[in-house]
Amino acid sequence: MPGVVIVGAQWGDEGKGKVVDLLAEQADLVIRFQGGNNAGHTIVREGETFKFHLIPSGILYPGKLCAIGNGVVVDPVVLTQEIDELRRRRVDLRGLRISANAHLIMPYHKLLDQEGEAKLGKLQIGTTRRGIGPCYADKAARLGIRMQDLLDENILRKKIYAAMEPKRLMLRPYAKSPELDLHTMTEEYRTHGHRLEQFIADTPPIAWRALDEGGLVVFEGAQGALLDIDHGTYPFVTSSNTVAAAAGPGAGVGPGALDEVWGIAKAYTTRVGAGPFPTELEGPLGDQIRESGGEFGTTTGRARRTGWLDLVALKYAARINGLTGLVVTKLDVLTGIDPLHIGVRYLGPEGATFDDFPYHQSIVHRVHGDYVELPGWHEDIRGCRSVDELPANAQAYLDYIAESLGVPVVMIGVGPGREQMIWTEAAEPLRPAAA
Ligand code: GDP
Ligand code: IMO
Ligand code: MG
Repeated sequence: MPGVVIVGAQWGDEGKGKVVDLLAEQADLVIRFQGGNNAGHTIVREGETFKFHLIPSGILYPGKLCAIGNGVVVDPVVLTQEIDELRRRRVDLRGLRISANAHLIMPYHKLLDQEGEAKLGKLQIGTTRRGIGPCYADKAARLGIRMQDLLDENILRKKIYAAMEPKRLMLRPYAKSPELDLHTMTEEYRTHGHRLEQFIADTPPIAWRALDEGGLVVFEGAQGALLDIDHGTYPFVTSSNTVAAAAGPGAGVGPGALDEVWGIAKAYTTRVGAGPFPTELEGPLGDQIRESGGEFGTTTGRARRTGWLDLVALKYAARINGLTGLVVTKLDVLTGIDPLHIGVRYLGPEGATFDDFPYHQSIVHRVHGDYVELPGWHEDIRGCRSVDELPANAQAYLDYIAESLGVPVVMIGVGPGREQMIWTEAAEPLRPAAA
């Protein structure tokens, strides 16, 4: 089973970090392929919590090869902080690699992200303000600064100058800001370069080697299907392709290397930031799910919007990703909610119904869910370790999802801890012996 892609099947924060950590145990390489430090991937091990923004979620296994692929946008300030924090916690970083071709988030990207949002006012996207969009924009405009540029002062200075030139007007309010001074910025980024140099590598050959040897490569995605720049709820999306196929260009492998595609979905739905959310719950039940699910952003601390599981969006996610397996996380959070609802179609204005995810933005903004009602369960499921141990109604809830999607459930999350995961028979080939 050489290549497994882990992607979010909703609007992000589905529990990708936890799944990657579990699969990483027997992986030969874990590689992030898109996004940047807009991502926040949480792992809870023996009561200790780790939050990763850039470093792949496999790093807790000593010496494990963990690469930040060329498709990722890297803020070197955040990356060095993440490295320092892991060192402080005595995590072995020998396996860390950073693609020499990964693009860098620069101080002006962060300012432009903030400025852009402020200018949009009520129409703002609710970005993480980490500079993600402006950095990917520069990459596409061929004005990006890459990891390898940190190693040559002359090239670095020239590229920063060229990248800032067309932005002068937008950056005028910050013209006197020391962080935008060419000399200071070059010096600061050179310092980051010195610190990160030991990790900079040509990452695609590392993946090719692992695949050639029949090893397991885990491609770690960030964000989720509905935040994909092409297929998500544009413009309320992130600035990269978040779907599984992006693992090819983002890690430097061909599509044939992506053997399994596992989508991670919560047993309900959440979204941070603005944009349409057809199954959103705005009353006390939404608040209850937010509280019991701890639905506050890993990166920005913002309260996440909550809602019922949305099968219209999930079916769409299954198609655009080519899902071969579905991981359902946070089933425990639904305990005690009876009855449960699952969105199975959308209802629009004037009695229109939509069985498939509508392409038209005006429609997506105006629809709301039409639901089936399923009985809930009241037993504490956090200690369940096999499907049979789950209450019959919880099993029926999962069966309903799998049958509707035509995708098998491979894992079920019943708590944040790494042991609180049920592996179903469909996941057997990827299950480490001890799990
Ligand atoms: P990611 O961005 O997809 O990696 O997800 P986040 O880390 O942003 O958010 C998922 C949150 O849910 C984290 O706090 C996890 O510790 C937690 N979590 C993951 N799986 C489960 C689960 O099955 N049950 C519960 N209660 N929490 C979970
Ligand atoms: P992980 O990997 C949830 C959202 C932001 C905003 C939109 C655009 O932890 O699942 P950006 O800063 O990317 O330009 O913001 O995308 N967003 C996420 N939401 N989880 C994430 O990552 C996200 N990364 C970006 O809230 O709505
Ligand atoms: Mg997250």
